[in-house]
Amino acid sequence: MRSLLRGLVTAALLAVTAASAQDAYTTKPASMDGIGKVYMGREIAHVMGHQGASWLERSEREKEEGTELLIKNLPLKPTDAVADIGAGTGYFSFRLATKVPQGKVYAVDIQQEMLDIIAARKAQGQGSNIIGVLGTEADPKLPNNTLELILMVDAYHEFNYPREMGQAMVRALKPGGRIALVEYRAEDDNVPIKQLHKMTQSQAKKEMAALGLTWVQTNDALPWQHLMFFEKPK
Ligand SMILES: C[S@@+](CC[C@H](N)C(=O)[O-])C[C@H]1O[C@@H](n2cnc3c(N)ncnc32)[C@H](O)[C@@H]1O
Repeated sequence: MRSLLRGLVTAALLAVTAASAQDAYTTKPASMDGIGKVYMGREIAHVMGHQGASWLERSEREKEEGTELLIKNLPLKPTDAVADIGAGTGYFSFRLATKVPQGKVYAVDIQQEMLDIIAARKAQGQGSNIIGVLGTEADPKLPNNTLELILMVDAYHEFNYPREMGQAMVRALKPGGRIALVEYRAEDDNVPIKQLHKMTQSQAKKEMAALGLTWVQTNDALPWQHLMFFEKPK
């Protein structure tokens, strides 16, 4: 009798959890660059395929996006453990790796082809402290309570399960650890990027607050992107 009761309670809890996960998202007819799935008022963008890898590594990127400045503005210590989620070709993972020589960089992506590009570069002797991680759409597969910083550049807006990814990221951060969220400025029509691949600062703040994260600072020194910092409670 008692085990039947326990089974019923577990089933009810699972049903409630499944229902609330479902409630986080609504659907609409998909826009040209979107998947028709809406989270907190924002339509999620298409994932950029690995076929676009050369765009991430284009030579004019540093000038257009101020990528060195971005790295310089990250609060990193040489021993830090960091994650680059939605790492793509590892453009930022390899730059982060030199800033944390006694630490680690988890380079997470859902496309094996991207991880293969990172592995090929590692095989040439670069980024020995980079660990490639094949995540899923809802889980970055990171160890709990280990990270000082999570960097996401031009990636979060295309996560198909932003709520689940966000919850997993919060678990992976140490207390006081930070997310550096870098998104093209949707408030600025002069930023030459498709609308659904941009985010407003207010939308980003709303979504991070829903995860229990505190906004710390926004650095708007980059030419095209917001560099926003959010902290896990200490
Ligand atoms: C536009 S690329 C940016 C790559 C890199 N951050 C950069 O700026 O060079 C976005 C990357 O996010 C990855 N991505 C999309 N959804 C993801 C998820 N749920 N978890 C991890 N990576 C994801 C895509 O596969 C793609 O490689």
